[in-house]
Amino acid sequence: MFTTIHGLQTYYQEQGSGPALLLLHGFPLDHRMWQDQIDYFKTTHRVIAPDLRGLGQSDPHKDLITLDHLADELLLLLDQLQVEKAVLAGFSMGGYVAFSLMRKAPQRFAGLVLANTRPDADPLEGQINRMKMAASLLEKGTHAAADSMIPKLLTEETLASRPSLAEELNQQILDMDALGLVHATLAMAFRKDSTELLAEIEVPTLVIAGEKDTITTPELMRTMASQLPQAEYVQIEGAAHLTTRENPQAFNQHLEQFLNRIAL
Ligand code: MLT
Repeated sequence: MFTTIHGLQTYYQEQGSGPALLLLHGFPLDHRMWQDQIDYFKTTHRVIAPDLRGLGQSDPHKDLITLDHLADELLLLLDQLQVEKAVLAGFSMGGYVAFSLMRKAPQRFAGLVLANTRPDADPLEGQINRMKMAASLLEKGTHAAADSMIPKLLTEETLASRPSLAEELNQQILDMDALGLVHATLAMAFRKDSTELLAEIEVPTLVIAGEKDTITTPELMRTMASQLPQAEYVQIEGAAHLTTRENPQAFNQHLEQFLNRIAL
């Protein structure tokens, strides 16, 4: 489905009815990274999975954007869909946006899922690497992001045993708008540090890590869980960064147990 936000075409998937579950995807991906969760939870929930600005089928902005800007757009989307309160799940970059939403409008969310994400800002070296990535995207196009991210999204075992999954993700990234990827990259480079926010997050929170995730390691995610007042930490064995696709059964099981405990 498409809607217009700030004059720009914005895509979102909406399936099912019941308590709202808002799913925010990671970089350089779109709502399709949640397909296994959309299919599973649409029987019990109203699942809303947008493509963040400039990614997937959502038009890029002509100016630079921030993650706070993405959060403002999502609040407008919830208003348009007349969703007063939702459970919020953010994966990696979607988690960074989730922190911004928890800062701006905590009353809109009854529970929080933080999957393969981190609260801190980029150190200088990380910012420099993002700027190099933005330059490569402009110079070489979307395959700069595909080549650098695919080996980190899945384990070596999954890359070898499920080549069709790797190819599907590769194609999705190649089809992205290069400018949209540049904007998202720069928005992440200059994101706020959310470490101090953690102690203020009062809703039940589920932290989901991948045992073999090298981007947001289990160690880092366990530390984040310990700083959240009401968090449960779970780890998906044998999965790297993209836990939603690498082991959807385990991911859905943890999410289902969590959702069963949230009253909306
Ligand atoms: C993501 O999966 O969204 C990215 O790996 C996040 C990041 O690069 O910090």
